[in-house]
Formats: sequence, C-alpha cells, structure tokens
Amino acid sequence: MRKKIVAGNWKMNHDLSETESFLGDFKKQLFPEDVSIMIAPSFTHLFHAFQSLKEHPVQVVAQNMHEEDSGAYTGEVSGKMLKSVGVSTVILGHSERRTIFGESHEVLKKKVDAALKNEMNVIFCVGESLEDRKNTNQEEVVKKQLEASIFHLDSSLMEHIIIAYEPIWAIGTGETATPEQAQEMHRFIRNTIREKYSDAIADSIQILYGGSVKPDNAKTIFSQEDVDGGLIGGASLKVESFMQIVNAASHKKE
Ligand code: 13P
Repeated sequence: MRKKIVAGNWKMNHDLSETESFLGDFKKQLFPEDVSIMIAPSFTHLFHAFQSLKEHPVQVVAQNMHEEDSGAYTGEVSGKMLKSVGVSTVILGHSERRTIFGESHEVLKKKVDAALKNEMNVIFCVGESLEDRKNTNQEEVVKKQLEASIFHLDSSLMEHIIIAYEPIWAIGTGETATPEQAQEMHRFIRNTIREKYSDAIADSIQILYGGSVKPDNAKTIFSQEDVDGGLIGGASLKVESFMQIVNAASHKKE
C-alpha cells in the first residue's frame, strides 16, 4: 500500500523568528506513523529546520534548486549544497517556477537529473491552467509535462520520483478541484506512467494533490483512490491547520 505524504510548501513565507516559532510548536506534536510528513521552508532556513527536526519524523525539503553543482550562477543554490545541509527531497516544476520564473520543460529535465545525481528525491509538480481546463486540454498538458521532464528517466530511478498534481486555477484561490476531478487526473497520471513504465511503478508511485487543501476538505480529497496525500501551501504555515491536514491523511485518526 502506498504511504500517504503531507508536504507543506511554505513558498516565500516565514522569516527566521516565524520559522523558529513554528518549529518549536511543531516539534511538540504527535505525528501519525502512517503519514510521511515534509516541510519546505525557504533556502535560508533549511539548515536550521533540519537541525531542529533531526530527532523527529519530518523531512526537510527544498522548494527549488539549480541544475549545476557549482559555478558562476549568482543567486542560485545547487543540489549539492542542499544535500550538504541535510535536504533529501526537492520540489521541482512548481507552477510558480514555471510561470513567474519561466522554467521550461528542458530546464526542469536538467534539474530532475541533477537532483537524482545528488541522490535526492523529487516532488515533480504538474498541472494545467484555467484556460487549459476550459478547453478540456488538461490531460494533454499534464502528459506533456511528464513526457518532457520525467519520462527520459530509467525505470530504476522512478522510485525517487513523487508527482504532485496542482491545477493552477486551484492554487491559493480557495477553489479546490472536486474530489472527482482530482481522482480523475490522478488516475490519468498513474495510467500514463503505467503505459510508459510498468504496473509495479504505476502502482507504487505516490501522487499528491495540491491546490487550496484545507483542514475541512483534506479528508475527502485524500480518500480518493489515487490520491496519496497533498502538497499544501497556505494551510501549512500554521501548525494547527497543517497538523489537521496531516491527521486527515492518517487512517488512525478521525
Ligand atoms: P495553496 O494550498 O495555498 O493553494 O498552495 C498550493 C501549492 O501551490 C502548494 O505547492
């Protein structure tokens, strides 16, 4: 059975004192054993968060990285650097990186390769715009994103890949995909992976949903057959709401 994952993507939120206050409170929580919990603070707080959470079952994740290990790339952070501060998973291809920072399929492919070369896992984000959905192009768009940046990988590397389906129209808008819409796309993604790779890979890969997941809708979304947890933005910034979502992913708690 696929283990559920709940990952908090803080985006560009929480300064050092806010991060410390979150972590102080967060560490006191009782974490369900049947959920993999991850938080992705900004680069500046990764080392601190890693040190602080060392004894706790929470992974510290990066929100992005550069595709080269080192060099003249002012302002960038490499996978090698992330690895050296204890980060073992990186989010790549978030729609904000694609749309605001112009990251192309080709660049993302290089970043995926660089992360794997540095023995990191990747949460690879895919998702369509509102216009794509209105034109019922969502499956085509998501398939292209997978094909262009992931499907060159050898099947032996696929165990390091987690997919996050984040429809752009649902991110930060308060408008969530319905559980049926999420399930439909997750099933499509799983079947696309099945066609390219194998039943074993398709059945084991974890596919997260992201886009306005909140404590009151998490349980219904997570209960869909092909939804293996969530990538949480706004609601991951407060311990209380994040923990409610974490617990909604657990089979042990109501
Ligand atoms: P929200 O949960 O704030 O909609 O953000 C989702 C997201 O983009 C997570 O990566």
